[in-house]
Amino acid sequence: MDLYAVVVTALWAMVPAYVPNNAAVLAGGGRPIDGRRELGGRRLLGDGKTWRGTAAGVAAGAVLALGMNRAATPIGEALAVDLPEFAAAAVLALPVGAMLGDIGASFLKRRAGRERGAPFPGLDQLDFVVGAVALAAVAASGWFGDVFTVPVLATVLAVTPVLHIGMNGLAYLAGLKDEPW
Ligand code: CTP
Ligand code: MG
Repeated sequence: MDLYAVVVTALWAMVPAYVPNNAAVLAGGGRPIDGRRELGGRRLLGDGKTWRGTAAGVAAGAVLALGMNRAATPIGEALAVDLPEFAAAAVLALPVGAMLGDIGASFLKRRAGRERGAPFPGLDQLDFVVGAVALAAVAASGWFGDVFTVPVLATVLAVTPVLHIGMNGLAYLAGLKDEPW
């Protein structure tokens, strides 16, 4: 695979992991997952992790992956790349893993004494990728091994923080997010 095909494949494969965060921002609100419980005088997760946001994020990522499966051939032909379809396990593992990674990061941020919305450079940009990749590697291992070759994985890790910062900046400018990270 040439560099172009690697980058297109990496972006394609990660769309179902990228979208849940944005869907959660749009749909967030309502009951926090941690039920306002605390650990060591601080919230377990905080008000920024809600059931509604999480469910909307998983649903958006999974529905998108199913739609992408139907469009893989025509889009692949248009881009001249052999785009992979998402195996059933990957359809769920990518968005669920992304949300779990983001939730895990909030848990760590609260333990580190950072309030909801406080930035945590590095963690904020990669939490959901690590979650999505890790869960897909475990729950959809055959599919993962075919699609996430070493160059694709390296591209995902390099490109995602840039995309994430760009998307959050746009969401902030659009008034959808309180902070630009
Ligand atoms: N959101 C949600 N449920 C999630 C993730 C996000 O409802 N599982 C919504 C919340 O409204 C949240 C917003 O999306 O405030 C932005 O998400 P994020 O930046 O992850 O949360 P923060 O509010 O910044 O909180 P934290 O410091 O814990 O990251
Ligand atoms: Mg945040």
